[in-house]
Amino acid sequence: MDDDALLAEQMAYYRAGAAEYDRPYAEREELQELLAVVDDLPIVGNVLELACGTGQWTSRLAARAQSVTAVDVAAEVLTLARARTASPTVQFVEADLFEWKSPERYDTVFFAFWLSHVPPTRLPEFWNTVADALAPGGKAIFIDDGPAAAANEEVLVNQPTPAALRRLDDGSQYRIVKVFHDARTLTDDLTALGWSVSIRPMAGNFIGIAEPPTTPG
Ligand SMILES: C[S@@+](CC[C@H](N)C(=O)[O-])C[C@H]1O[C@@H](n2cnc3c(N)ncnc32)[C@H](O)[C@@H]1O
Repeated sequence: MDDDALLAEQMAYYRAGAAEYDRPYAEREELQELLAVVDDLPIVGNVLELACGTGQWTSRLAARAQSVTAVDVAAEVLTLARARTASPTVQFVEADLFEWKSPERYDTVFFAFWLSHVPPTRLPEFWNTVADALAPGGKAIFIDDGPAAAANEEVLVNQPTPAALRRLDDGSQYRIVKVFHDARTLTDDLTALGWSVSIRPMAGNFIGIAEPPTTPG
């Protein structure tokens, strides 16, 4: 299966499963603890949130930001996010992040549980998109699953792109991209692209803060 087909199936999974998405946040205490870390992160100014989903992070970001622009491809999750986020400083945008380019620059670009869904071959371009969306002095802040989280997934073996199988309540199955980044390798990869980065583990997750390469002149 090529990456385009895998990404289409990943999108279909989140659209069909929107109503089930919040369940782990309600059931898993460590996710509630993870949400609280927003208060310790350097979230400032105008914030761009990539793949905002049902808005679990959005209002927490809004509480610390001047404005939040939250982007996701799935209308179904955006409906839930809008209902959850009653803030005049938050704007939602429906767009495919593999095609969308930010028309504005932001002080903070935040993404939770999105990096692991970006195919490795598309990572350099993804990081360029993030860099282009940052204002001078801005930072990318990202949170995701570390390697330990693989134990909770049906990892698909022998795939050209790391992938996992997800199931919805109706029995339907979807393949998604799932890359369990290791903090050391991710740090090295980002450093090689010219970013300054610090990544720390938190339970089975990691939290990264990164500044893009500065352009000369
Ligand atoms: C694991 S969820 C993360 C949601 C939210 N950030 C959170 O942490 O709860 C991944 C999100 O990516 C969105 N998504 C999938 N493919 C996308 C694409 N091509 N462009 C934009 N968003 C996409 C899905 O709709 C879903 O909301």
